[in-house]
Amino acid sequence: MLGPVLDQLDQLEREGLSTLGAAADAAALESWRIAYLGSNGKAKGVMDAFKALPKDQKAAVGKRANEVKAALEAAFEARKGTLGSAPVTASGPVLDVTEPGLTQPLGRRHIISRVRAELCEVFGKMGFEVADGPELEDDEHNFVKLNIPDSHPAREPIDNFYIDEPDGKGRPRMLRSQTSTVQVRVMEQALREGWGPPIKVVAPGRVYRPDTVDATHSFMFHQIEGLCIERRVTLIDLKTTLLRFAREYFGKDAQVRLRPSFFPFTEPSAEMDMMIRLNPDQPPRWVELGGCGMVDPAVLSAVGIDPEQWSGYAFGFGIERIVMGKYGVPDIRWLYENDLRFLSQL
Ligand code: DAH
Repeated sequence: MLGPVLDQLDQLEREGLSTLGAAADAAALESWRIAYLGSNGKAKGVMDAFKALPKDQKAAVGKRANEVKAALEAAFEARKGTLGSAPVTASGPVLDVTEPGLTQPLGRRHIISRVRAELCEVFGKMGFEVADGPELEDDEHNFVKLNIPDSHPAREPIDNFYIDEPDGKGRPRMLRSQTSTVQVRVMEQALREGWGPPIKVVAPGRVYRPDTVDATHSFMFHQIEGLCIERRVTLIDLKTTLLRFAREYFGKDAQVRLRPSFFPFTEPSAEMDMMIRLNPDQPPRWVELGGCGMVDPAVLSAVGIDPEQWSGYAFGFGIERIVMGKYGVPDIRWLYENDLRFLSQL
């Protein structure tokens, strides 16, 4: 006489699983729970019928009844977790091809990398090629050949990351403090390989200085260096290039000014300011983007380019400053913290 009761249990399991698979939203799922697992539900009904069975049949039927109840409960929990994806039937999950897929957040390049690439593109349109140099440098490229003598205060250990290991010639090595190193490397390479001068390159990259980190300083940041060596270039060419860059990158109303300054590797030298808004809550103001000038003849001579035959201009800007000015970012640290709530706005 066990057969009909066990059949009933099989039937309950099949029916329960298939109707559960059809429950398409939270409300349908809850109705299903009440109908099958609720205090007056079908599972309870079977249990009640079980109690009325003679003792000798209870063990076999009870085992099966518990299995069915456990299967329905497990399927219910699983369905609750996956509601909105594939329905579940007695034969397992079914792929519902009409369901929209799960969206994955899209990754993208960091804002500094994007701006760096955009800057190269803007200068590329003006005829500059992209050059590269090592971050671990020797003092010859970071200082000596840039006309920065041994006694110069810029060489102080407190302002530079020197490396304990000197280079093969016993000269100090360091993390470069400026991308101007690449000017020297490119001029040397052009002469060695015989393709220049003329030379027209930009060199973006990281530089390192042991500055205390605050809203406008970091021990590592990025610069983009420019170098143009021609038979006859003048300050006018430099100003024209910088103004064209500013208008191309910041818009046609970009305001630029050059202030007389001093750098050992340029003569005359200037600092370039732009009218930009670093803080969205404040009006735009003059912000220094970097330095520039006419390449000092001593720098040309140091690599073996005849300053009587060639002249040049150079510039070097902070990429973070450009990012901050373009997007109104008031704190440089935000650019390094990798907080997606910030980065996803840029
Ligand atoms: N290297 C300088 C610095 O880091 C910036 C600079 C000034 C670069 C004048 C140049 C230049 O190419 O001509 O402060």
